[in-house]
Amino acid sequence: MTFRIDIVSLLPEIMTSPFSSSILKRAQKKGLVEVHMHDLRNFGEGKHKQVDDYAFGGGAGMVMLANPIFECIENLKSQRDYDAVIYTTPDGDRFNQKLANKLSLKKNIIILCGHYKGIDQRVRDALITHEISIGDYVLSGGELAATVISDALIRLVPGVLNDSASALTDSFQDDLLAPPIYTRPAELRGMKVPDVLLSGDSKKIDAWKSEQAMKNTKSRRPDLL
Ligand code: ADE
Repeated sequence: MTFRIDIVSLLPEIMTSPFSSSILKRAQKKGLVEVHMHDLRNFGEGKHKQVDDYAFGGGAGMVMLANPIFECIENLKSQRDYDAVIYTTPDGDRFNQKLANKLSLKKNIIILCGHYKGIDQRVRDALITHEISIGDYVLSGGELAATVISDALIRLVPGVLNDSASALTDSFQDDLLAPPIYTRPAELRGMKVPDVLLSGDSKKIDAWKSEQAMKNTKSRRPDLL
């Protein structure tokens, strides 16, 4: 089964590089994931391909027109069923690992990237199933948020990571931050790797990792406990 993400955006070129490098690239090459970009401008109105207009009732900033979005998303929906239509917006639900895990189990999803002051409310009412914010700050557009969300989902798709256990041992997967990690050399500039990691005693090592994960979480993110 292929996990499919359709991203609807006014500036798809912003996302070209992240999706054509490293893990995201490999996931697509392996056929585990399909990512399709759709330029909303192609659905713009009139000879200027207009995609935004002033807000009714006044207020600063332009609003994305509803109709080009309806046409683009309805066109996608006529080709296959979608399990989620996500809108990236700073006033959405906060994105976290739990939501990433849930969304990664879907088959086909659409991500609509917001711009300007946002989109006509009627799009949100009629088309959007999930409104997601990646944090309490305002980005210039939803493309980076869509990229972050896609990355977090794609790495969870079975087969995408070579070490299948790896995604499960990420920070947050058990509501704990990860323990410290080390690689060669065992001693560097007077700083030593903790002895237990060199002991070969897997029980002791696991106990140390759990203890350190708990310690990290308590000091940095007590809200997770
Ligand atoms: N668009 C602008 N800011 C955003 C944010 N923090 N999260 C998601 N989409 C956004």
